[in-house]
Amino acid sequence: MGKDKIRRFALLKEYPHVFEPEVGEPSDLKGNWRKNYFKNDHPIVLELGCGKGEYTVGLAKHYPNKNFIGMDIKGARMFIGATQALEENLSNVAFLRMKIDFITEYFAENEVDEIWLTFSDPQPNKPNKRLTSKPFIDRYRKILKPSGHIHLKTDSDILFEFTSEEITQQGYLLHELTWNLYAELPTDLDPVIRDILHIKTHYEQLFTSRGSVIKYCRFSLD
Ligand SMILES: C[S@@+](CC[C@H](N)C(=O)[O-])C[C@H]1O[C@@H](n2cnc3c(N)ncnc32)[C@H](O)[C@@H]1O
Repeated sequence: MGKDKIRRFALLKEYPHVFEPEVGEPSDLKGNWRKNYFKNDHPIVLELGCGKGEYTVGLAKHYPNKNFIGMDIKGARMFIGATQALEENLSNVAFLRMKIDFITEYFAENEVDEIWLTFSDPQPNKPNKRLTSKPFIDRYRKILKPSGHIHLKTDSDILFEFTSEEITQQGYLLHELTWNLYAELPTDLDPVIRDILHIKTHYEQLFTSRGSVIKYCRFSLD
């Protein structure tokens, strides 16, 4: 492992807003994020597969009265957003370093108000590993409030087509869908959501520099 990764991992362990539980070990995070960590009653929004956490940090600045948690397994990437949140004194931000597969171990029923999926891996050969596949949506259903929205922003035709088919087949409720976000941003969209959709993550910048068109949809489960 490179020296910089070792330094980042060591610093992450010291950060009070970064949680790195051991797989299988009981955690007291579940059901207690508001009471024990944020110490308020504000809504909780997750960014899953957050990478450097651009949406976690960007959303937290837009919405000081909501709590944001970025979740990813990669610590060196998470370090970037976690450091920014610390430097900018964002008390409404936390990060959870853990596989999303185990998400129900860390959040209780109805504890989560909203989910963002930003440039999730399309997993061309493993549909059940896609973060919008039924096994993952079933996990989200256990922790997300029934009316809670799930946002997906992606460059991937495979993931977007798959997700729109899942929305129809599984009977999820579609609120917004565009195959070319920046060309077709709906005019009646909440102005804050419009602003937020312009936050460009690391992968969005990479993909758009290669000519990819950005897609977006928002749906809920009930
Ligand atoms: C293509 S990157 C996108 C990162 C960031 N959202 C962005 O737009 O720059 C996908 C991220 O999802 C994370 N990821 C994918 N599947 C995961 C899983 N099952 N559990 C935890 N993290 C996962 C990867 O570690 C990676 O950081």
